[in-house]
Amino acid sequence: MGLKFELLKTTKNARRGRIYLPHGVVETPTFMPVGTNANVKLMTPENLKNVGAQIILANAFHLYLKPGIEVLKHHDGIHNFMNWDRPVLTDSGGFQVFSLRKGRKITKDGVLIKSPLDGSMHMITPELSMEIQNTIGSDIVMAFDYCAEPGITHQEAVYALELTTQWAERSLKKIRSLSDQAIFGIVQGAFFKDLRERSAKEITSMNFDGFAIGGLSVGEEYNLTLEMTEFTVPLLPENKPRYFMGAGAPKLIVDLVNLGVDVFDSVLPTRVARHGQALTWKGKINIRAAKHKFDKTPIDKECKCYTCRNYSRAYLRHLFDRGEALGQILLTIHNLHFMMDLSKRIRESIDNDTFEDLRGEVLKYYA
Ligand code: GUN
Ligand code: ZN
Repeated sequence: MGLKFELLKTTKNARRGRIYLPHGVVETPTFMPVGTNANVKLMTPENLKNVGAQIILANAFHLYLKPGIEVLKHHDGIHNFMNWDRPVLTDSGGFQVFSLRKGRKITKDGVLIKSPLDGSMHMITPELSMEIQNTIGSDIVMAFDYCAEPGITHQEAVYALELTTQWAERSLKKIRSLSDQAIFGIVQGAFFKDLRERSAKEITSMNFDGFAIGGLSVGEEYNLTLEMTEFTVPLLPENKPRYFMGAGAPKLIVDLVNLGVDVFDSVLPTRVARHGQALTWKGKINIRAAKHKFDKTPIDKECKCYTCRNYSRAYLRHLFDRGEALGQILLTIHNLHFMMDLSKRIRESIDNDTFEDLRGEVLKYYA
């Protein structure tokens, strides 16, 4: 099989682990930078390695629309295509069912989605999603799921859950017929504990290589995200990786690790970088602020990233002021370095039983 997971240590619920994949080893807990279109925005693969990225995420639905699976097949997959030789996880397109809810139609067979690129309609089934992810050649494939919107009724959530279970079965069967790629199942159930429990039971009864918690961090209150995660995690097997889909805020990450989550991803660190926001160990900084105009110090004196080793706040502020892309590039490098540094310090703190102190430090600056 395409994955081996070692649980190295647990302190309370926080876990230190290691995932062995065809393109390398992933130390957990870890953050995965998001590279939806086979690129992490403004980062070369060399930059990604320099900030310590171990695995990146790409999206099956986007890559199916463009460049299309024929182009990916022609390059023998995403690794050659984008010149990234470390692990890749692909999301199945299930989230687009959620985010493109305007032009879609859900049936038992799959989802008819309207392309945001040209308005064309595409029927995405679990089988097609597996074929796409197989052609992409990702190290970890995600099951095709139905991520429901917050505010849905219990009855609607039951329907979404039942579809997710049926699609999980079809996803697993299809990918096993195509390859030995690892595949994660996704637990749904909206904000109803009875449905989270039922979904977790049904999804974990199948032989997935890891499990994701889906349908959270979709606009609900912070405490509800944590409450649902705290309820769901104990329903997942100990000996397989756990992935919370869509977490990038430092506070959320330490809180999720505290509940036993191993892997997370989000566009947040790269997106806010493009808007001039830097993440640091002393909280967030808006580099566009006038107070940085003459500031010769780096974003963070202790940070070892390329940006902090070479550029002042004043210069970065100037780049943003002039709308120069280099400002966005340098902040993206810093923010991803911060996320990977945060991941590394979380791992070290679990190793030497100081995770609670580290979590306290992060919570102090990210209220
Ligand atoms: N990304 C964030 N949340 C989700 C989810 O629930 N399902 C999928 N497939 N991707 C996600
Ligand atoms: Zn830095």
